[in-house]
Amino acid sequence: MSYVASRLSAVKPSASMAASQAAKALRAKGVDVIDLGLGEPDFPTPLHIIDAAHFAAKAGQTLYTAAAGTAEVREAVAGKFRRENGLDYTPDDIVVANGAKQIIFNALMATLETGDEAILPAPYFVSYPEMVKLLGGTPVVVECPETTGFRLTPALLEKAITPRTKWLFLNMPGNPSGAVYSQSDLKALGAVLAKHPQVLVLSDEIYEHILFDGREFVSFGKACPELKDRTLIVNGVSKSYAMTGWRVGYAAGPAPLVKAMSTIQSQSCTSVCSIAQAATVAALNGPQDEVARFRQAFEARRNLVVDGIRKINGLTLSPPEGAFYAYIGCASLIGRKTPKGVVLEDDAAVANYLLNEGRVASVPGVAYGLSPYFRISTATSEEVLTEAISRINAAVAQVE
Ligand SMILES: Cc1ncc(COP(=O)(O)O)c(C=O)c1O
Repeated sequence: MSYVASRLSAVKPSASMAASQAAKALRAKGVDVIDLGLGEPDFPTPLHIIDAAHFAAKAGQTLYTAAAGTAEVREAVAGKFRRENGLDYTPDDIVVANGAKQIIFNALMATLETGDEAILPAPYFVSYPEMVKLLGGTPVVVECPETTGFRLTPALLEKAITPRTKWLFLNMPGNPSGAVYSQSDLKALGAVLAKHPQVLVLSDEIYEHILFDGREFVSFGKACPELKDRTLIVNGVSKSYAMTGWRVGYAAGPAPLVKAMSTIQSQSCTSVCSIAQAATVAALNGPQDEVARFRQAFEARRNLVVDGIRKINGLTLSPPEGAFYAYIGCASLIGRKTPKGVVLEDDAAVANYLLNEGRVASVPGVAYGLSPYFRISTATSEEVLTEAISRINAAVAQVE
């Protein structure tokens, strides 16, 4: 007897969580492994946010809330979009969910008919194709090579669009590449989309505050206001405010789409935790100096990792422009042998070798749709990163 519905047959568990679990399993056996698999800030949530949560709980904000989120949190999100992105949304255009992941899931569930296509520029966030498949859609993967800065170009986009295209996913800064789109890059994509009115745009901007080298963030909504009625801007507090465990994401978009997403939410989880919503209001409306401090720390770590990896013979790394990952090229290791005589056939074998012999957990590029690479998270201390680079160096040096 099968317990599992056929819609799950093609869906894989999250590769980054799997890498992290493999590291934990080795640790449980007493092996000293550095886990650079999962990407989450290693800082504590700023204290004023935790205080706001305490206060909300003590003040009795402990009941179900409106499915789309409390009036306060949707007002705070509208304020954030106005202040930081120059975008005008009313609370009716906003929905809050249990993380950006649930926002994306709800958006796809609300819109996809069986066989509808979602264009996923690769490398992409591991959950995008799995969610699309789970909800009956077809992922259309468009490889965006390092030579285009891992960015989707207008020509690649034009080629990928069909009459069945329902969504274009954009993610900036990108996980895993760190790629950022400029205003003119986005306008050029917008010009292609203008010719295809059936295509909606999901712009995942969850890493917007983690930008390097003085870059300014431009939201897709700001660059292409003419596409507002088919754009869903996705964001959340996980990465900017070190709040991954609080599970709050949000989106702004056309009111009918947002309403459909709230309906799904009302029938699946009722609402986001009332206390986490109160914490989100404090995060968005409160002092932002910790966000700037986190950004600086991430930039220093990015610099350390770029310097260290570029010294390793056999690996390549274009400096990430944002987020907290390094997407490391390992083409010159493919086809070569480990000291145990195992041929490194692909990047999954490289990540496996680095885990078992180098004692560093990473995620292979195959999980992101663009090989041969592996991703490490740089959201850990400089000491740990330095040790990890030295282990990767030692392991790579032994490949024959
Ligand atoms: C691109 C991207 N979008 C969304 C998420 C999920 O964010 P949340 O914690 O808000 O669900 C992640 C987390 O790794 C991510 O990298």
